[in-house]
Amino acid sequence: MKIADLDIPGNVLLAPMANVTNLPFRLMCRRYGASITYSEMISADAVIYENQKTLVRGKSCEDERPLGIQIFGNSPEVMTKAALRIEEMYRPEIIDINFGCPARLLTKDGCGSALLRTPELIYEIVSSLSEELSTPVTAKIRILEDMEKTLEIAHLIESAGAAALTVHGRTRQQQYAGKANHDHVRRIKQELGIPVIANGDIFDELSAERVLEYTECDGIMIGRAAMGNPFLFKRISHYLETGEILEYRECDQRIADLSEYFRLLEEFDLMHTVHIKAQAQWFTRGMRNGRHIRRSIAASESIEEILWNLDEMCKHAD
Ligand SMILES: Cc1cc2nc3c(=O)[nH]c(=O)nc-3n(C[C@H](O)[C@H](O)[C@H](O)COP(=O)(O)O)c2cc1C
Repeated sequence: MKIADLDIPGNVLLAPMANVTNLPFRLMCRRYGASITYSEMISADAVIYENQKTLVRGKSCEDERPLGIQIFGNSPEVMTKAALRIEEMYRPEIIDINFGCPARLLTKDGCGSALLRTPELIYEIVSSLSEELSTPVTAKIRILEDMEKTLEIAHLIESAGAAALTVHGRTRQQQYAGKANHDHVRRIKQELGIPVIANGDIFDELSAERVLEYTECDGIMIGRAAMGNPFLFKRISHYLETGEILEYRECDQRIADLSEYFRLLEEFDLMHTVHIKAQAQWFTRGMRNGRHIRRSIAASESIEEILWNLDEMCKHAD
């Protein structure tokens, strides 16, 4: 897939997810075949005020490139200033704008999906960033119930200079309930000239193929199903390339991935930024001995002990 002049290796993308897509996790997804990964959303205001807790979200390394950094805000001027700062500090391949987050923390200030109510402000934000930055600017939206209104916003984003558009097939009111509506996504793809990426409810090989085929989008983006499961990118890219389901030992794989994730958190000095129990919960979700693993992690007194225990379990898994 090509976004502006950027060649993206493949068309299966990791979605931006707050408190999930930190550098170690993105790096693992990338190694397993994610075509591009996105940072957790970064507040434009926090960039301007140089909030260190926020700025760590842009931390990257060569091996994970290409990287998209996502920002949110409500003012074209502040967002442009913040994006210029991000461009200078982190040199991402893409800067993405969040027009989709339904969380009250954002919408009460007119950010994220609240902006879908003011298409003219969306236009101003995208055109300001597109004019001022040398990095390609992309946008991520949710759909509106009204197809025509959704199309109007998609067209505005394109005409404002966005290099690609990701569409999550749910409305803001739906939050994460119900099913993603890929009819809207398909219509947007039919009408726009820029690459369109379909997002929502892609959780395995078959749903990936189905959404790609139905929407005819240039790419697909995966969120929740990848949490604690970076190996999903290997499975999906293998299937899309060969038409065959990859055989693997799930238990071994999950434990090895959790262990590698903790090692990378240590390596990049990011262990203090995560909630270890939540991470362990995601990586062991649905596993036969998941509870046992989580208990062992909770009882460990150091990260060395966690890693040692995981190595032991890995030897005896499956
Ligand atoms: C924990 C979590 C955090 C998220 N954070 C962001 C975010 O920072 N920016 C964003 O655009 N979307 C965010 N999303 C939405 C996802 O990027 C994605 O659009 C949504 O989960 C639908 O895709 P899925 O069905 O594959 O999960 C988040 C979703 C979850 C579950």
